[in-house]
Amino acid sequence: MPDVHDYIKVRRADIDAALKKLIPTSPECPPLIVEAMRYSLFAGGKRLRPILTFATVDTVEPANTADNAELVRPAACAVEMIHTYSLIHDDLPAMDNDLLRRGRPTAHVVFGEGVAILAGDGLLTEAFRILARWPDTQDPAVTTRKLRTIERVAEAAGSKGMVGGQTVDLQAAGQVPDRKSATLDEFGLRAMHERKTGALIRASAVAGAIMIGASDDKIDAIESYATHLGLGFQIVDDILDIEGTADILGKTVGKDAAAGKPTYPAIYGLEKSRSLAARAIANAKDVLHDCGLSGRLDEIADLVLARKY
Ligand code: IPE
Ligand code: IPE
Ligand code: MG
Ligand code: MG
Ligand code: MG
Repeated sequence: MPDVHDYIKVRRADIDAALKKLIPTSPECPPLIVEAMRYSLFAGGKRLRPILTFATVDTVEPANTADNAELVRPAACAVEMIHTYSLIHDDLPAMDNDLLRRGRPTAHVVFGEGVAILAGDGLLTEAFRILARWPDTQDPAVTTRKLRTIERVAEAAGSKGMVGGQTVDLQAAGQVPDRKSATLDEFGLRAMHERKTGALIRASAVAGAIMIGASDDKIDAIESYATHLGLGFQIVDDILDIEGTADILGKTVGKDAAAGKPTYPAIYGLEKSRSLAARAIANAKDVLHDCGLSGRLDEIADLVLARKY
């Protein structure tokens, strides 16, 4: 098995090339919206979600990799487009009011709020067009998998998942007129993280398993693994907002505490947050071991915990 960093490099190049092919171009679309969508999409994100889609497939069914890649590549691209849309909107003045993302000025700084909102809308909508359209096949089994994937991704991105979590985030931070919620307790905080970040990470992994026709047992195991992984990921994100540097993170630090955001360090303190992140990652790996799916996904879990950006 190649080194995990080499694996990620290869997968990332594959994903970037596929995104370049799939993203609409002008004159099919007005040049400005194309420019704005591409600006955020190709700003150098980690590509964790699509890499997870591929790593799931490469773990569940290591043989047949080229065929499987054809099956899952559109879903991998779609989740990255949805993620990028969520970042553009998350950074807007009405939400986290951030000026730096992926090491660049945020979309609304460059294009104005209106076009930034539309770039997010465009990426979200385009993602579902891609899920419906690709892979291009008449095979009824694959069509059924595509529909299942669309449902899972929509559920994760929507009000039950990310949109719901972001709403709880704004309400808990007192950013909704006359509707500030009580301070979240540990259960509320965890539920919020599972929605706002965990849901799409989970769907990214599950989509890979669904698209290759994995058994329900395997899909359940992947789902459980990615649920723990997603929680660990967001706890680390909260920690990095305190301990990280803008240079390395590519986004402004120290904003969560200033904005009164509900985070793990705010409720538990840094040290306990670190141990809860480690526990979430250990739980993710336990699931893998219990169902014989160790390997690449273990390595990715370790990287999520150790990451500095
Ligand atoms: C940042 O996600 C937003 C969260 C959900 C915490 P990433 O840390 O995956 O951001 P990129 O894609 O690498 O820029
Ligand atoms: C964002 O969480 C989660 C999303 C759905 C985008 P954060 O607000 O903590 O993400 P960053 O720190 O700005 O990347
Ligand atoms: Mg936010
Ligand atoms: Mg933010
Ligand atoms: Mg954050």
